[in-house]
Amino acid sequence: MALREILTFPSPELKKKSVDVANIDGRIDQLATDMVETMYDAPGVGLAAPQVGVAERMIVLDVNTEEPGKDLLKLINPVVAEGRGSVLWEEGCLSVIDYTAEVKRSAEVLVRAWTVDQKEIEIEADGLLAVALQHEIDHLDGKLFIDRLSSLKRDLYKRKLKKILRDEIPPREASRSAGI
Ligand code: NI
Repeated sequence: MALREILTFPSPELKKKSVDVANIDGRIDQLATDMVETMYDAPGVGLAAPQVGVAERMIVLDVNTEEPGKDLLKLINPVVAEGRGSVLWEEGCLSVIDYTAEVKRSAEVLVRAWTVDQKEIEIEADGLLAVALQHEIDHLDGKLFIDRLSSLKRDLYKRKLKKILRDEIPPREASRSAGI
């Protein structure tokens, strides 16, 4: 197992559209293991492969912070098959330093994916899991939650980030812990 570096905005790697995983092999199993370790270490409740510089369609999630590992998901080639209703959710991201904002998402989703054991599965989700699934699948399409905000809000964040980077203010732990 190994921790991988989490890339942050504006890394161009985060804007790439990821390709489908063609073979669920030892390399993919290792990547999943590393991503899980990196997610828990951050700490975060979700992580997508492009966030660690791998442009392939794999995500890991664990929204059960009470019992880590119990509801851990490692999903390959995940697709939102259905979405119902809408919800506004305050999102953060491990790749977006020191910022959270409300994003509109489907309230309930049906996601189809493959597991590392090569089984095809369906997940019905609402609440944080539904939001996290949509957020992580967005990463696979090169999209961050700030790309879903108005251009005004996004520009405000870009200015704030410049100031953070110039002043070398360490990112607040609070915002890292909200990371998906
Ligand atoms: Ni994220």
